[in-house]
Amino acid sequence: MGNEITNGEIVVSGLTKHYKQVKAVDGLSFTVKPGRVTGFLGPNGAGKTTTLRMILNLVAPTAGAATIGGARYADLSEPLRAVGAVLEASSAHKGRTGRNHLRVICAAAGLPGSRADEVLERVGLTSAAKRKFKGYSLGMKQRLGIAAALIGDPKVLILDEPANGLDPEGIRWMRDLLQKLAGEGRTVLVSSHLLSEMELLADDVVIIAAGRLVAQGTVEEVIGQAGSVDTVRVRTPHPDTLLGALDGATGQPGEDGTLLLTGVTAEQVGDAALRAGVAIHELVTERPDLERVFLDLTAGKEGIR
Ligand SMILES: Nc1ncnc2c1ncn2[C@@H]1O[C@H](COP(=O)(O)OP(=O)(O)OP(=O)(O)O)[C@@H](O)[C@H]1O
Ligand SMILES: [Mg+2]
Repeated sequence: MGNEITNGEIVVSGLTKHYKQVKAVDGLSFTVKPGRVTGFLGPNGAGKTTTLRMILNLVAPTAGAATIGGARYADLSEPLRAVGAVLEASSAHKGRTGRNHLRVICAAAGLPGSRADEVLERVGLTSAAKRKFKGYSLGMKQRLGIAAALIGDPKVLILDEPANGLDPEGIRWMRDLLQKLAGEGRTVLVSSHLLSEMELLADDVVIIAAGRLVAQGTVEEVIGQAGSVDTVRVRTPHPDTLLGALDGATGQPGEDGTLLLTGVTAEQVGDAALRAGVAIHELVTERPDLERVFLDLTAGKEGIR
């Protein structure tokens, strides 16, 4: 059956795309592992779409290369069975039903028409299978796009901003589906602006800005790399007494007796409060989130929007 891929690792090395005025992607290297959801993050104009299109052989690189399971996309003999992609809100013939749209893709890919019903089921569109595309909501169109990407049962899924325009229920559905697909051993590479969503969705992240790599690793590693530290938030009627009882803590008293402390743990704060006889009304450890890290890492590196 030709060049079927056995593992779905994506390797991007030195990938570069220069347009006349813009270095859209500039010497970008990263890897994406099977069995995990990888979030591909960057500000507007960072080069995410251009990178994904180069991986899929839709844009020719100026330099560098991307491989999927060791082969370039163009060299895959059965690309639809290897890689499924959702690059924008899917479009289909307006008067065609969702089911017929998928059956056309099956026919073109040499797959049995029964795959159409299987993928419709997978994305929860069975009840809308016989409705015409022009009557689909944005959420249903997104689902149909994912169904089309899944038709060849691919090892690798590449999605460009799939959560765009989805309501909270749709976003949760997308998250569950992508995590399940990764759990089946597939490689899932998904770009997004929704950082809070990425923190819930992704195992790994690749952050780019102005066409260059800014950070890559697990969500925890990237948060750690940024050098951000935990903050302990404590609320007490006697912030000054508490601060005086804490060795090595730095912090500023905020409004209503809230102290934001670094350099101490919540345990140390609680113990010090007990020793000093100070009441505590709130005590929380706050981890820096991916959003904070992203803003810190990409500050001043925005591409042209
Ligand atoms: N065909 C093209 N011709 C000229 N410039 C282009 C072309 N395609 C993209 N660019 C430029 O390359 C840069 C990267 O664009 P790209 O669409 O890859 O970014 P992105 O990270 O996907 O942004 P967004 O978050 O807005 O989707 C931008 O400055 C864009 O204007
Ligand atoms: Mg884009």
